[in-house]
Amino acid sequence: MATVAKLFETMEYGPAPESDAPALEWIRQHDNGRFGHFINGRWTAPVEGQYFETINPATTAVLARVAQGSKADIDAAVAGATAAAPGWAALPAHARARYLYALAREVQRHSRLLAVLESLDNGKPIRETRDLDIPLVARHFYHHAGWAQLRDAEFPGYVPVGVVGQIIPWNFPLLMVAWKVAPALAAGNTVILKPAEFTPLTALCFAEIAQSAGLPAGVFNVVTGDGATGKLLVEHPDVQKIAFTGSTEVGRIIRKATAGSGKKLTLELGGKSPFIVFDDADFDSVIEGVVDAIWFNQGQVCCAGSRLLVQEGVADRLTQKLRARMEKLRVGSPLDKAVDMGAIVAPVQLERIRGLVERGVEEGAKMWQPSWACPTEGYFYPPTLFTDVSPAATIAQVEIFGPVLVSMTFRTPKEAVELANNTPYGLAASVWSENINLALDVAPKLKAGVVWINSTNLFDAASGFGGYRESGFGREGGREGMYEYLKPEYETRNAEVGMRNDKVGVEKPDASIPHSAIRIPQSDIPPVDRTYKLFIGGKQARPDQGYSRRIVGPDGRVLGEVAEGNRKDVRNAVEAAHAADGWGRGGASGHTRAQILYFIAENLATRGAEFAARVGREEVDASIARLFTYAAWADKWDGAVHHTPIRGVTLAMNEPVGVLGIAAPDEFPLLGFVSLVAPAIAVGNTVIVIPSEPNPLAATEFYTVLETSDVPSGVINVITGAKDALAKVLADHDDVDGMWYFGTAAGVKAVELASAANMKRTWTSARTRDWLDTRQGEGREFLRRATEVKNIWIPYGE
Ligand code: NAI
Repeated sequence: MATVAKLFETMEYGPAPESDAPALEWIRQHDNGRFGHFINGRWTAPVEGQYFETINPATTAVLARVAQGSKADIDAAVAGATAAAPGWAALPAHARARYLYALAREVQRHSRLLAVLESLDNGKPIRETRDLDIPLVARHFYHHAGWAQLRDAEFPGYVPVGVVGQIIPWNFPLLMVAWKVAPALAAGNTVILKPAEFTPLTALCFAEIAQSAGLPAGVFNVVTGDGATGKLLVEHPDVQKIAFTGSTEVGRIIRKATAGSGKKLTLELGGKSPFIVFDDADFDSVIEGVVDAIWFNQGQVCCAGSRLLVQEGVADRLTQKLRARMEKLRVGSPLDKAVDMGAIVAPVQLERIRGLVERGVEEGAKMWQPSWACPTEGYFYPPTLFTDVSPAATIAQVEIFGPVLVSMTFRTPKEAVELANNTPYGLAASVWSENINLALDVAPKLKAGVVWINSTNLFDAASGFGGYRESGFGREGGREGMYEYLKPEYETRNAEVGMRNDKVGVEKPDASIPHSAIRIPQSDIPPVDRTYKLFIGGKQARPDQGYSRRIVGPDGRVLGEVAEGNRKDVRNAVEAAHAADGWGRGGASGHTRAQILYFIAENLATRGAEFAARVGREEVDASIARLFTYAAWADKWDGAVHHTPIRGVTLAMNEPVGVLGIAAPDEFPLLGFVSLVAPAIAVGNTVIVIPSEPNPLAATEFYTVLETSDVPSGVINVITGAKDALAKVLADHDDVDGMWYFGTAAGVKAVELASAANMKRTWTSARTRDWLDTRQGEGREFLRRATEVKNIWIPYGE
């Protein structure tokens, strides 16, 4: 007699297909499946008349032909977006909110069409598009209808960036449209979007939907095409911001292409995210977690949990259980509602996966796949598990972007953290343990923008998403995401400093730089001859080469000499800054940092007259006040608890960026220095600072104040010398996590170019800034730049 258990053993799934008819009909209605760009509220034929095919990867059938965007097409779209920008930006906040609300409603109204179209074009299961992608798209527009409504109240002093170029990948085609477009429009920008060449259809469908929702012409434009079209968008001079999601390789190209252009940039790049299982984890949940982590969307997910790190004692048991579960996964037609995995997006991606799997086998790892075979028509790849993987193996380091899981073991929590962080990426991580103390201890130590505890792949518009290190910079979603599409209003007023130093590394102090109140000490007696050394690891250090440079006042008198720092000095300073990382991560508390900042202020005040003789009383008083400001902030720069739709909490924690290089402005030699160093250290960064090049003496004198203020050694390091050359060394350095540069346009460009190597976050400006004005010289903008937001998702309940 058949028992229930037996029925479960043998029960076959019947077919449960979703109809593709309405989606195919929608395609047919558009010039029989031939799509132009969507520019200025109209379908627009490509100027050069070129089209390419988009296919259904599950069947290899051609779905439609779409336009290949040329320079003329991008020009037309940028012109449309530029013309629409002032009107859209000038709308009252409530009016923009109404449009975003309408977009959310329209997405819901068309959800079935969008879900099916997405499955057809991308190959992902309808269950995912219907139950995850499209609801998240609608949620994103609703959430940002809220930000549009609150923009003026919540972001005072900020204005939209202007015309925004957005380039998105093929793995979540419509979700990426929402993540990019919703905040951009809510902030008051206009958009040109370039979807991925493999999956352009839902973006085009959305453009049409937006049009029917009454969005003004030119506010949202879609230009289709491949990487060449994307490149044209990136390089267009009238685009003020680029937002990109895709491979780290292309992200790096875009970082370089936009260097020095003044364009704002956010990059959401690849990952090799760890999925950490401790021996006390709930194994049944872990198995389903792994399924979601690496077989969701066929593993073509930037934050896929692609590295399974298991505590040694339970590794064999987990592997066995996992294999049994893999045996039951169903790969097949994406439109079948009972299918777990659909097709790989394109032949090139399939080849890439195959190649990397072969490489894994060649390098000695043990590969396992289920006994069943994938459909032979279409581009399918089975779920794959590697064991016996060495941490240095290619498959353990490279983003495979397919349904391939590599498994490694660890013994202790410390080892788990080391293994997890052993990657240049830092997008996401997942931690599994029934011991919440352990999980919460591990989470802050992981170098990742998102950490899921006993869960994985949770997303919500209220919680920022984005990475550390080579996973890119900037956040999408939440308040942080809105700032990526806004800029301070004063930036539009302040003048460009211009290309003063046209050759990086050439010392050329410029008398036209505003010297604030640089004074020559009032005395006829010759000053005591003194050469200021460098300040590294809490000690005054002779420069490597032993050279110094003369500092001359505005009237030509020699004011003193400072050390000429070089590459080796910078390296020593970076090492010292790393050794001091207890200042931020768990070591010193906000309270301790506040006390030290107050102490610095106190000691500066005691020597106020002496500093006033150098830079004037106003600058000294402003510097003391600024130190107080950041002492005040040090224990108040809190994160947030987001209301995401889980039973649990999502903690948005402000973490220091790490080791920051700072090239201080030439003007305001004391106040400029203090205004950058104080916020950076207040939130726990350690810094290497290059002071004003023509007027470094206030900074070198200032480190003698630091020496008496209990600042732990290595927290602040000062290197004097040729600013642009030293800034470039810092920007090139792989162990520097972020670089702030205030100087010339040429220096900005050099720093941004060099930062592409390890994708360090940069904050650069070649504009003058009134450092005495508290709206420009201090506050949240500085603190935000000094912090990374890590979102930790903590579901609770039995
Ligand atoms: P990709 O980075 O080349 O493409 C992403 C987008 O950038 C597409 O719209 C493409 O047309 C555009 N693009 C390409 N070259 C460009 C350029 N020079 N300038 C401006 N735009 C450009 O990614 P691709 O080739 O589709 O996939 C290759 C690998 O990248 C994957 O195997 C995967 O490892 C990774 N990837 C990662 C994604 C993520 O979300 N982290 C998303 C897509 C791919």
